[in-house]
Amino acid sequence: MDALFSDRIRDVPRSFIREILKVTMDRQMISFAGGLPNRQFFPVQQLQKACERVFAVRGGDCLQYSNSEGLIELRRYIARRYKTVQGISLDPDQILITNGSQQALDLIAKATLNDGDPVIIEEPGYLGAIQALSLYRPAFLPVAVDDEGIDVQGLANAINSRPKMMYTVPNFQNPSGISYSQEVRKQVAGLVAGSGCLLIEDDPYGALRFKGTPVDSFFHFLPGQTILLGSFSKIVVPGFRLGWVAAPETILEKLLVAKQASDLHTCNFTQYVILEYLHNNDIDGHIKTICDAYGNQCRAMIDAIEREFPADVHCTRPEGGMFLWGKLPEPVSSLALFDKAVERKVVFVPGEPFYTRKVRTSAFRLNFSCVDESVINDGIARLAEAIRSLQLDQR
Ligand SMILES: Cc1ncc(COP(=O)(O)O)c(C=O)c1O
Repeated sequence: MDALFSDRIRDVPRSFIREILKVTMDRQMISFAGGLPNRQFFPVQQLQKACERVFAVRGGDCLQYSNSEGLIELRRYIARRYKTVQGISLDPDQILITNGSQQALDLIAKATLNDGDPVIIEEPGYLGAIQALSLYRPAFLPVAVDDEGIDVQGLANAINSRPKMMYTVPNFQNPSGISYSQEVRKQVAGLVAGSGCLLIEDDPYGALRFKGTPVDSFFHFLPGQTILLGSFSKIVVPGFRLGWVAAPETILEKLLVAKQASDLHTCNFTQYVILEYLHNNDIDGHIKTICDAYGNQCRAMIDAIEREFPADVHCTRPEGGMFLWGKLPEPVSSLALFDKAVERKVVFVPGEPFYTRKVRTSAFRLNFSCVDESVINDGIARLAEAIRSLQLDQR
């Protein structure tokens, strides 16, 4: 049977997180494992109204085949928002609407990577990117991230291998929650400039800042080399699968070919609906509501960690997004902690799947967007118990 499958699909495992999520079906289980936006903030009624209006105004047109680039009105909206929020000037023709930013990753890899091409990736890095890029069989060059961003010396070494691209989530990274400081961004841009390496800036969480001040996109430093990925998943709804890629026109042309070959175009109807929603609702007010809630939940989680966890457990202090990253003192394995945690009916994601190489790590990801404060307190207390039990076993 194995002979049926391509080398590229045989080598890529199923998403570990999707496997973990099966455990969370148990109603007693407290889950810090998910990566979901909080459904409490899905604007269901507003989207229902938008659907009705789109049907009333557009009739069958909104159900017809459409162009591959995506609705021009939606691309204009995105370009305007880049200008007003980040001061980035883009032509709408530099934007391609995709089935979530996840599809953009696949299209970029399809259009640029040959087997064995070097690709810089953060370590730990976004699991979905590891999976999407792995299908095109690159040679990953993992570079560590710490509280300030990527390790600049490690990046300098990796650049010497002439990578085709660097994939980064510089704002509230998944899985660690960290953001690159302005200084690290400048240094990264200095290293990447003129190297022939594309910089893929994946930014699904940038709008979800609940603390601190915004930092410049890599586009400001490297406009000709940066590809921007964006998404409506975390600020409106993920189920519409609406994201985008913005790139220099010569690159976008190739992404368009990959898009046409893949699925012709992104769903026409949902593009009209989101546009209608965006025109008739206060998106900034909506984002602020989400940020306030996630900020409170993040604070509650950090407070509970400081109260409950042994003092030698390190955790990141995100200023936005949906995740934080814990680390037990070595050499305890987060997989061993996972088993202890499941016994106490609490789950998280162990660190291992966020690495492109086989590692044993004591790090783990905690999600705070989908759990309210009382559940956070209970779950962190259970997790603290699991940590203490594991540490006792190790003695
Ligand atoms: C860093 C990162 N990139 C991309 C995605 C995929 O987002 P989308 O729903 O736009 O495909 C996610 C989803 O969790 C993510 O965390």
